Amino acid sequence: MNYLFRYLIHLCLLKIASLSAVVDPKLSRIWGPGLYGDKIVMPARYFFVELVDQSNNSIRQNYKLINVVIDGSTKTKKPCRLYTNILDRKDGSFIVRYKLYETCSYLKINVGYENDLLADSPYIINNDVHIDECLCPKKDVDSFLEQWDCGAVPPLITHRLKEFGQINWETQREQLIKQFDKPHSVSLCHYIVKNNQIHRKCYGKYVGFNMFVDNILLSLSRKVVLPDTEFFANLGDWPLSTHGMHEKYPIFSWCGSTDSYDIIMPTYDITESALENMGRVTLDILSVQGNVEGTWENRAPKLFWRGRDSNKYRLELIKLSRKYPDLFNVSLTNFFFYRDEEDIYGPKSEHVSFFSFFDYKYQLGIDGTVAPYRMPYLLAGGSLVFKPESKYFEHFYKDLQPNVHYVPVKEDISDLVEKIQWAIENDEEARKIAMNGQKFVNRNLLPKDIICYHVHLLNEFSKVITSAVNDFKDMETIPQKKVMDCDCSDGIKDEL
Ligand SMILES: *[C@@H]1O[C@H](CO)[C@@H](O)[C@H](O)[C@H]1NC(C)=O
Ligand SMILES: *[C@@H]1O[C@H](CO)[C@@H](O)[C@H](O)[C@H]1NC(C)=O
Repeated sequence: MNYLFRYLIHLCLLKIASLSAVVDPKLSRIWGPGLYGDKIVMPARYFFVELVDQSNNSIRQNYKLINVVIDGSTKTKKPCRLYTNILDRKDGSFIVRYKLYETCSYLKINVGYENDLLADSPYIINNDVHIDECLCPKKDVDSFLEQWDCGAVPPLITHRLKEFGQINWETQREQLIKQFDKPHSVSLCHYIVKNNQIHRKCYGKYVGFNMFVDNILLSLSRKVVLPDTEFFANLGDWPLSTHGMHEKYPIFSWCGSTDSYDIIMPTYDITESALENMGRVTLDILSVQGNVEGTWENRAPKLFWRGRDSNKYRLELIKLSRKYPDLFNVSLTNFFFYRDEEDIYGPKSEHVSFFSFFDYKYQLGIDGTVAPYRMPYLLAGGSLVFKPESKYFEHFYKDLQPNVHYVPVKEDISDLVEKIQWAIENDEEARKIAMNGQKFVNRNLLPKDIICYHVHLLNEFSKVITSAVNDFKDMETIPQKKVMDCDCSDGIKDEL
């Protein structure tokens, strides 16, 4: 009897335990640049929270929302205005973002779970936490890189620069302009950064995208005194300095290819989403992680894809899906390149929110005209990414490992069906690769990493230029849009 009674109590306790996870508040982890708001100035700051149990294992189910209170005060001891946003990744981890509307001279970050404070909460910053509009550049690039914990120079930068050795613009500048001043096919801007001022002159008919290069340069110049430098930025999709040409030109491009020499910068898309984090752009590398509906287990085991008809293999994908309707939910959203074939590959589909891509387990990073600039977001969403081989790449592709972070497929996607079937049969392995892809993004492609990459690039590039840097009379000087009057002193204040 006694035994049965104990058994029943035991069952009961088991039931309670399985309903609600037991979080160990001290072992749970909090990390990220947002905890160092005085040192790392961004439009929106962020940090991560991960719940773990007493055995230090991640809690992935049956947990409650964390509670976060971030408050602070201004120099005049008024509460400072800020906005906090919690993104639940549905896997026991959270991203917390906060955006300041004014400089705080004191900030307290409290992260709790039920009645407990997590990890080392509260985090107190007894120092100015500036808004991004402050013009408070650090004097020296190396100390900026250190303060931001930017790490080593990315190998792709070193590798591409090695092709050029030293760069003397006196001998190359005119030749480059002559070669690429083709207003109908090339959009190119010549930039001079001198005394932390940005000057530019553009060539081409469609140069509106120069705003993306302007924006990152302006943002950087508020954070660090940029080294004087001179460069050309290609605003088009295709790299320009192709292998067949007589000369190699060190042109900055958003998309690289294995048959060109262009020096790769993070795409305008991921750069803008880093700068506009919690601003007017709703899709960014962090929001995509918090706006997915289901965990891996709840996602449909199909490959989901939407996009334009900008590549013949995208048409091939439609064909495949008709042969294997159980494996695919794919359609074209727009006909432009193959307008005559809409009857065959249509009908085009309604717009689908990017967040709902992740109602499905499998995603496809297939080229459009060049590399698919949605690749970072696909990886961030926690689904498994299939990536066709291609000569085109973004700044981070070389660091992705096949079958670790994504599943490679042939350029003509002839083995895609087979690979999807593998994923269905090996669900746990597929899930692991998907999680690794997401981890990669969180280690390499967050707003801080994108800003670091640009600083490394400009810094390394400036080192190989041997010609003097001077702005030209016919260049436009790009002003800061709304600089705030900020007290930039670096000094640590006395304890309050
Ligand atoms: C808990 O696990 C993390 C890694 O998962 C490790 O870094 C940390 O040291 C562990 N903590 C303890 C107290 O074992
Ligand atoms: C394909 O996906 C869309 C968007 O999630 C959904 O509305 C539609 O029902 C799906 N089609 C099929 C055949 O499952």
